[in-house]
Amino acid sequence: MKGIILAGGKGTRLYPMTKVVSKQLLPIYDKPMIYYPFSVLLLASIKEILIISTPQDISSYEQLLGDGSRLGISIKYKVQEKPRGLADAFILGEEFIDNDSVCLILGDNVFYGQSFSPILEHAKQNDKGATIFGYPVGNPHEFGVVEFDQSNNVVSIEEKPANPRSNYAVPGLYFYDNQVVNIAKNVKPSARGEIEITSINNEYLKRKSLKVELLGRGMAWLDTGSPEGLIKAAEYVEAVQSRQGFYISCIEEIAWRRGFITTEQLRILGEEMKMTDYGKYILSLVKEAKE
Ligand code: DAU
Repeated sequence: MKGIILAGGKGTRLYPMTKVVSKQLLPIYDKPMIYYPFSVLLLASIKEILIISTPQDISSYEQLLGDGSRLGISIKYKVQEKPRGLADAFILGEEFIDNDSVCLILGDNVFYGQSFSPILEHAKQNDKGATIFGYPVGNPHEFGVVEFDQSNNVVSIEEKPANPRSNYAVPGLYFYDNQVVNIAKNVKPSARGEIEITSINNEYLKRKSLKVELLGRGMAWLDTGSPEGLIKAAEYVEAVQSRQGFYISCIEEIAWRRGFITTEQLRILGEEMKMTDYGKYILSLVKEAKE
């Protein structure tokens, strides 16, 4: 399975913060926002990743994450000239996806919670059709909204409906089989002029191959769409990290725990940042492993 992170867009809702800095590079507490979705792909053991961003910003992501070899994975980059919509990820990513299945995660989506790995593993194993997630929120009209019956069969999925049929938002994490490329190519722009991910999901629904997995109370899906959301997300990360001593979305740690890099490689990565708590955390993992 391949992984795509969509990290483009104009970020106008966060102006002036994002006038010259890409939204997904803004810090959430101690690391750039993109580390959080990036870590989800690593948790899912996805080792081939494509990062899509704007012509201005793509080089910043390359500088930040490189070709992935330091994490034992492969990262490729692709420019999206205009924010045409989320479905564009599969058109731009056609060559990269090749004959594989693919997981798309939006570069501004932050997830954290117990048992997330088995949830991802389960979604990955569904190699026919599509898997999306449902997360209960108080403001569903701001998202894609999924309605389902008592057996969790999807009944409808709508993009930012004025009158939501459920309070389950669809987070920006999607698993698709290889048909997604052709489906994306046939998506017509919506009223807001974008080729919507919701149109792709509706096509899978029509083909009776759309599954929804509900994310429960134990999962955090944090909002990064407003200055208030950003500071609350930062506070959440700080609280968990300082209370438990476990870091959220430390990509070096996950690469190491998944066996993509050795303890010695992890040590080198930690040494480079040993002046920060983040680097010290990595070195503490090395120390524990050697004891
Ligand atoms: O966050 C989950 C929601 O994401 C879903 O519930 C919605 O169904 C889905 O349409 C999407 O809604 P948004 O209105 O939040 O999407 P937005 O246009 O803000 O874009 C999401 C991210 O993707 C953002 O970080 C910018 C990036 N992006 C967006 C577009 C349209 C791109 O990189 N390229 C694009 O063409």
